[in-house]
Amino acid sequence: MAENPPLDVISICGSLRKGSYNAMVARALPGLAPAGMTITPAPSFADFPIYNADIQNERGFPAAVTAFADAIRAADGVIIVTPEYNFSVPGGLKNALDWVSRLPNQPFAEKPVAIQSASPGPVGGARMLYDLRKILVFLDAFTLNKPEIFVNSVASRVNEKTGELTDETTRDFIRQQLAAFAKLIARVERKK
Ligand SMILES: Cc1cc2nc3c(=O)[nH]c(=O)nc-3n(C[C@H](O)[C@H](O)[C@H](O)COP(=O)(O)O)c2cc1C
Repeated sequence: MAENPPLDVISICGSLRKGSYNAMVARALPGLAPAGMTITPAPSFADFPIYNADIQNERGFPAAVTAFADAIRAADGVIIVTPEYNFSVPGGLKNALDWVSRLPNQPFAEKPVAIQSASPGPVGGARMLYDLRKILVFLDAFTLNKPEIFVNSVASRVNEKTGELTDETTRDFIRQQLAAFAKLIARVERKK
């Protein structure tokens, strides 16, 4: 339909932990998306080697890196849901971004990106979001400004047994962000 063109969005979870709260938030996204937006998980970055230019120069980009980058290129938008580690971006996620940043046809260039964080702590990972934004500036992504999503006290907002995000207030905030993200994507696509 003209008003809701299909939007294929991928989500990247910055935590590799099986019981990850951020993964619970990421898994909730498809059910909170506006009409026409599908959200599927990006290929994993768990097996990326630690970035080393010698690997790139001697063996080329690992297949897992190109698969991850291809999925980003193919998507209309990317949502990154990640914990805060030591007030900043977790090393595994930063490493993944470092790898794709070296690719020709760098996949984040002019790509709409929304970011979210979740933490059991009182600030919800908010201190990390600005470091992530800074990295996305270098990558030339079009990062959604508002509304911001940082889910504090996340343990009290999920069902630990089922792994579902149950808190209605949080779910509503995320719905609002996804609606704003759909508008940003539409604006970017109109200008192409
Ligand atoms: C190395 C490390 C550093 C952390 N630093 C922070 C921090 O700066 N701020 C914060 O709110 N939580 C911090 N935490 C706690 C994480 O928010 C918590 O472990 C959270 O559950 C991780 O996200 P996940 O559940 O999606 O794996 C840290 C955890 C680890 C393992």
